[in-house]
Amino acid sequence: MTPLDDLPVDWTLSGTAARRDTYYAASQHKFVPFREPMVFRRGQGQYLWDEAGRKYTDLLGMNVCISVGHSHPTVVGAAMKQAAELTHCTTMFYHPVPAHLAEELAQTMPKGPDGDLEWVVHFTNSGSEAIDLAMVMARSYTGNLDLLALRNSYHGPTSAAQSLTGIAGFRHPGMPGNVAFVAEPNQYRGVFGPGTAPYLDEIERTIATATTGRVAGIFVESVQGYGGIIEMPPGYMSGAAERVRAAGGLYIADEVQSGFGRTGAHMWGFEADGVIPDIVVMAKGIGNGFPLGAVVAQKRIAAPMAEKFMFHTYGANPTACAAGRAVLQVLREERLQENAAAVGGALLARLRDLQQKHKAIGDVRGRGLMLAIEMVKDRKTREPDPETTAAVFEACRDSALILSKSGPTRSTLRMVPPLCLSLDDVDQVAEGLDRAFSSLA
Ligand SMILES: Cc1ncc(COP(=O)(O)O)c(C=O)c1O
Repeated sequence: MTPLDDLPVDWTLSGTAARRDTYYAASQHKFVPFREPMVFRRGQGQYLWDEAGRKYTDLLGMNVCISVGHSHPTVVGAAMKQAAELTHCTTMFYHPVPAHLAEELAQTMPKGPDGDLEWVVHFTNSGSEAIDLAMVMARSYTGNLDLLALRNSYHGPTSAAQSLTGIAGFRHPGMPGNVAFVAEPNQYRGVFGPGTAPYLDEIERTIATATTGRVAGIFVESVQGYGGIIEMPPGYMSGAAERVRAAGGLYIADEVQSGFGRTGAHMWGFEADGVIPDIVVMAKGIGNGFPLGAVVAQKRIAAPMAEKFMFHTYGANPTACAAGRAVLQVLREERLQENAAAVGGALLARLRDLQQKHKAIGDVRGRGLMLAIEMVKDRKTREPDPETTAAVFEACRDSALILSKSGPTRSTLRMVPPLCLSLDDVDQVAEGLDRAFSSLA
């Protein structure tokens, strides 16, 4: 018997709900999307089982944290082996496992036209800590204070990360300032319509009017996640980098959702546009559920940070980093990026078929295993339809599908499953969604 078996666990839904209601802070109460809460007991690959043993297909990947599959034996094995030997090692002592992971992550970065770009890594505990650090790094390197972010973005819950977040529902009082927002280049409902150029002009205009004229950088999710899977159109990322660099700033890619092969065509979402970021922020899929984040920066950009002490207690934790190394290994060995491209392409085609059939679906978009359908009341006016979205979302549960309501009006169903989703699953997902839409009619 393991010591864990000695601790009583009440697996009932009612018991868990009562404890959460009594002991969780109000700040965590809102984050329960289903009308009836759920307790998950087990996961394997792309599937989850609730406390009553019912099986679900997980199209949410526990909020994009599960990259290579739930409880993947290679990842769990690597972490358990490390935890049993030395669970934690503070960064003032040297440990080879985080050092190996730093090397392996740096090797995934672009080499640059002359093949001589050098990349370095600072591990954190989470994505928002990594965002905070990237903000400090950009300001330290450039000596400028003003940052640009995109409307409709999400960069995390810490005060600083919230200050970059462009959706009111995620912004709380007391955020630091010096962030100017530019319109996101949403090709379906963006304020400047489809295209890239007007959104790049908007960056220039914002630098000229809402900053001192000199900026520390721009943060861009290579594909906006919580914003409802908004892809950056061709030329946007590279064009944004050009304009921001002309004002003294850096280009910071937030790959917390779009990284680790999720978009199918590339390991990193920014690669779709050929841009070479100055700083890349990653988390979630990096640890397949183990808490880990990282800022990967060009060596010269990170250098000024040596002046001062910057310490994340659990950053470079060897157990989480052992999991991170295993994730990279599994991605490679199981060819999961290629799988994301193939299975994501097949799912996208089925979603487009559903769009033909169900008029509530205004838009279908995304790439790889980062997909979304957006619901509208009228295809001409494109008025968002959060009510139908909520109803389909609930009905999907009856079809044993877990996904998420996203976007500023919560009228988008976001699909970001573990990258091992299979072609067989695609049939089940498409049929389940079809049933969910049909049940509303
Ligand atoms: C794009 C993006 N950036 C940053 C974060 C913050 O990461 P974390 O929740 O690990 O702090 C998130 C989290 O959802 C995210 O989606």
